[in-house]
This record gives sequence, C-alpha cells and structure tokens, in this order.
Amino acid sequence: MTEAIKSGRTLPPSKLAHVVLRSPRPKPMVEFYKAFLGAHVVAAIGPMTFITYDDEHHRIAIGAFPGCGDKVRNSAGLEHIAFSFDTLNDLFTAYRQRKAHGILPIWCVNHGPTTSLYANYSAYQDPDGNVLETQVDNFDNVEDANEFMMSPAFVENVYGVDFDPEELIKRLESGEPESEIKKRPEIGPRSIETLPLLNPPPPLVKDSYDIIEA
Ligand SMILES: [Fe+2]
Repeated sequence: MTEAIKSGRTLPPSKLAHVVLRSPRPKPMVEFYKAFLGAHVVAAIGPMTFITYDDEHHRIAIGAFPGCGDKVRNSAGLEHIAFSFDTLNDLFTAYRQRKAHGILPIWCVNHGPTTSLYANYSAYQDPDGNVLETQVDNFDNVEDANEFMMSPAFVENVYGVDFDPEELIKRLESGEPESEIKKRPEIGPRSIETLPLLNPPPPLVKDSYDIIEA
C-alpha cells in the first residue's frame, strides 16, 4: 500500500457501483425502474428502496427524502445515466419491451461516423424527469473509440444523427448486418439547440407500468 501511495496516482475504483435518486414520487419511480431495467426490488426500508438487475446488491436506490421537491430543469449537476447493451439486437429488444410498458424514448441518435460507430443510443425520462440513456458501443476496442472521439467527424457533429428505432428494427429483421445499420448518415455540422433533450415532453408518471397489449 505504501508504494502505491508514493506513486502519486490515486487508485481508481474497480467499477461504478450505483446511483441514488431523491424523489418526491417514490412509488412511480420504483415501478418505472423495475419496468425500465427489467429490475427487481431487493429491499424497501423506510424511505429507501433498493433496486437491481444483475449481481450487484443495488444499482439504483430511490430515496423519499423529507422535503424533496421537483427536479429543477437546467440546474447544474447530473445530465443523464447511461446503461449499455451488448448488441443492437439487445438494445432494440429492450426498446420494444419498454414500449409495451408505455415507456418510449424522447430521443434516438447515432453518434458515429460513416464507417464506424461510437454509440447508438436512445434517451428516456423517468417520472421525475431524470434522463436515462440506453446504448450499444460500436467499436471493438477503446483505442478505436478514442481515435474517433478526436476525429474531424466527431468535432463537426458531436451530437449525432437522429434515427427512428422502428425503421432500424425493420432493417435488422430483414437480415441486414448490425455493422451496416450502425453506420451514421452524414448531415454536416449540428448545434446543441437542435437536441430534443433541451425541450423534452413532460415525464410520464404512472403508479404502475403494466404490459400494454400490442
Ligand atoms: Fe451518454
């Protein structure tokens, strides 16, 4: 330990563990996260509800903190929380499942350049208006991803190109390779004022997110 301390570099953590959200509407928030993440409640103790979807004891906790008010748009702080899927097929499977719960994205965008892709993502809102991202990485390794993030294409349009998930699902179901579907069409420079995230619709608040028959 002494040698590590002398190295001058702080030991980075092994992983990001969980996010705790204060909420004035804990029941809709808990039901939303169960439906959104395919998650379950591990423990509900007093004002705290702990939720997970994998082998971590909790990934999200909802806290009904006394005096908690509504989220203030445009305040400083957290912009969004991102969740990764392994494949485009998985990303769109989860999209379809959420849609059946009445949970729809507020923005779908392809971040990548014409020949490869940094990330393909869909942004959602929870009942308090916190933004959640679901994404699939499209580079095979972090070096290629880093190289793209310093490329002229990314500098020109760091926000990406919007897509219709239903359209991409049709292409996927027709047998088109994921690598082709992930290619980003070029639209030239894009400004931050064009992002749907700046003027999102009101969040959907429900006491349960039951399956809606198609
Ligand atoms: Fe993100």
